[in-house]
Parts: sequence; C-alpha cells; structure tokens
Amino acid sequence: MSFTDHANNPYASLSPAVWRGSTVVFDTFEDFVGRKSRQPDGYSYGITGTPTTRGLEQRIADLEHGKHCIVTPSGASALMTTVMGFVRSGDHLLISDSCYGALKAFAHNWLARLGVEVEFYPPTIDAGIEALIKPNTKMICLEAPGTVTMEMQDIDTITAIARHRGVMTMMDNTWASPLYFRPLEHGVDFSIEAATKFFGGHSDVLMGSISMNNADDYATLRETQSTLGQSVSPEDCFLVMRGLDTLKVRLAEQCRSSLKIARWLEAQPMVQQVLFPALESHPGHAIWREQFDGNGCLFSIILQPAPEATFGAFFNALQHFPIGASWGGTHSLIAYYPASQQQTRNFSPTEEPIVRISIGLEDPDVLIADLDRALRCYELARIQVHPGFQGG
Ligand SMILES: Cc1ncc(COP(=O)(O)O)c(C=O)c1O
Repeated sequence: MSFTDHANNPYASLSPAVWRGSTVVFDTFEDFVGRKSRQPDGYSYGITGTPTTRGLEQRIADLEHGKHCIVTPSGASALMTTVMGFVRSGDHLLISDSCYGALKAFAHNWLARLGVEVEFYPPTIDAGIEALIKPNTKMICLEAPGTVTMEMQDIDTITAIARHRGVMTMMDNTWASPLYFRPLEHGVDFSIEAATKFFGGHSDVLMGSISMNNADDYATLRETQSTLGQSVSPEDCFLVMRGLDTLKVRLAEQCRSSLKIARWLEAQPMVQQVLFPALESHPGHAIWREQFDGNGCLFSIILQPAPEATFGAFFNALQHFPIGASWGGTHSLIAYYPASQQQTRNFSPTEEPIVRISIGLEDPDVLIADLDRALRCYELARIQVHPGFQGG
C-alpha cells in the first residue's frame, strides 16, 4: 500500500493503524450467509486478526522469505500451535532434547498422555536422525542453537532426510532471527520465532510467529489458531511492527557486542567454558559458519565449580545485568540454570550449573567491567568456602 493512498489510508500516517474489533459486520443477510467470500483473509470474526495483524504477518513472512505467517500470543504458543495443527494420536513426534522447555513439557505432559509417541533425540544427532524415523513419524522439532546448552544442529542434513522420508519439520529460529538464518530456505516447513525477543526488542510484549510456504499448511494452521483461540491484540502487533523497524540495527550492535564479550569471557580463569556457536571453540562452530549469516545475542557460560550458594556472589555483584528469564531486548539480562536441570535431561552436554547471558545495547566495555567485578567476587567467595579452590 502506498503511504499516500488517500482512498485507503486517508490519514497517510507513516505508522500503521491499530484496527481493533472482536467482530466484523455485514451489510446484508446475503453477505453474511455468503461470508466465505470474505476469506481467505479471515475477516469474518476478530479471532483470526484485523488488518493490523495481517500487516505484521506480511512483514514477518517477508523477513522469513516465506509466503504465509500466523502470529500467536507468545513464542510458546507458536510452538504448541504448530504441533497441535498436525500431530495426532498414534503419530511419532521427534523433539531435540535442547528444544525450548515448554515445548518438551507440553509433549511429555499432554501429547504423550493423548497417545502421541514422543521421543527426545540428541540435539547433535544430525544424519543419525534417519535411524529414528519410523513409519508413523509425523514431525521433527529443531532448535539451533539449543535453548540454554547451545548445541548446533545440521539443519540442511536433517531437513534433507525429513523431506526424503515425508516427515514435517519445524524449527525454533529465535536465536538467529530471519536476518541471520532463514529456515524455510533450508528446507524447514515451519519457522517459529518468539517475537517476544528480537522482534519486539524492548521487553514489553509477548508474541510468537509461524512462517511457512505451503498454502494448505497455512489453512490448517489458521484454523488451528482460530479453534484454539490463540488471538493477538492489535496493540501488541503495533509494538512488534515498531520493533521490526529497528531490528537490523539492534541485532547488528547486540551481536557485535555479544561476540566481544563472549571472547573476553573465554579468557577469564573463573570461566570454565563459553557455550556460543560463534566462537571457534564451540563444537558446532563449523555448522554455524557454513549455514548461518550471523550470531544471536544470547550465550551461556559454565563457571569453575562451586557450591550453588557461591553463585550468589557473582549474580548479586552485577550492576548492569538484571536477573531474569527472556532475552533479546535492549537491556542485558542474566539467568541461572541449576545443575539439576542438566542432570535430568537425557542428552545434556554438561551436568554443571549454567549461567545464560543476553547482551543488550549497553556499552560492551561497561558490561565487561561489570562481569569482571562479579567474577572477582565469585573467585573470593569460592576461596572462602574452599581454600583449595585458589587458582581455578
Ligand atoms: C528459544 C525460545 N523459544 C521460545 C521461547 C518462548 O517464547 P515466549 O516467552 O514468547 O513464550 C523462548 C522464551 O524464552 C525462547 O528462549
């Protein structure tokens, strides 16, 4: 639409209009009875969205180089809606062990009880996925790098096998965003983003998106979204559209800072390991370099071992990293994942506690100085609980 299309956009504002409405009305009985003519844009009831929703969906589809997009109320709901659209009782569902926790919990606690055969596979299985595919395998869930533990997956290899065997694939692409990886171009059927993170970008909105090319899949998922009542407010769509306007510059800056900080952390004696595919030391670095165009702003670190209480000395010394879940916004964040979480996973690469860091738009040198101070506090606290810890 032209910005100066006065017939359709009489105010000619640069910012998109926020269309509210729980329903749409019809001029005549005949229009109402024949309301299918208003499809496929879905403007027959508010649940499937207003023109504001469609505007955002089109922008996300364009970013993903896809034909269709559906927005949902959260990243979690985008993952669940995709699975619910296609997976039925008796189907086999393969989920990477490092997929987002709520997807795994949903599969384990609900789908398995409803008769779906749920199997978690090692995230770095790559070509080995072929051996796990059964006649009833319906879908493979991917995420690269994996939530918290950051394993890379060879997306090209897995999707080639899945396509050959007639199995659907969906990928949580939130870490890289479509600016740095476009799953649909790598053979993935459904690209999922937690728009809560990079797209919104300001830690003030929850949303998810599902992008795809196949028109029949789009119709199925639009119906699923509507049936499950997964409706998104037009105000939230406006916020995400505003976030998208600055996505490219935010990401470039956050990703540059992340790499600088991750490299600095890697050289610190109190840091045992940095889990970040953009680092040469990461086991999935070659896949990342070959298939991705850039890195996200999220990485994890494993500190030198110490009792859990000692971690308080590190976290509580930080002045520029609020402690909290989520990531991808303008403010840096830090979160703690206890050892028990890794120990109860089937294929975790570590049994140590993990510290996950999201880098925002602050000056990276200020963030490094903050981390430096906190690591010194951690070192002192470690020595106090166990003098033998001196020196690493
Ligand atoms: C990789 C990833 N996917 C999905 C989600 C879920 O997104 P939301 O918080 O919007 O439900 C998260 C949230 O932390 C995430 O990190």
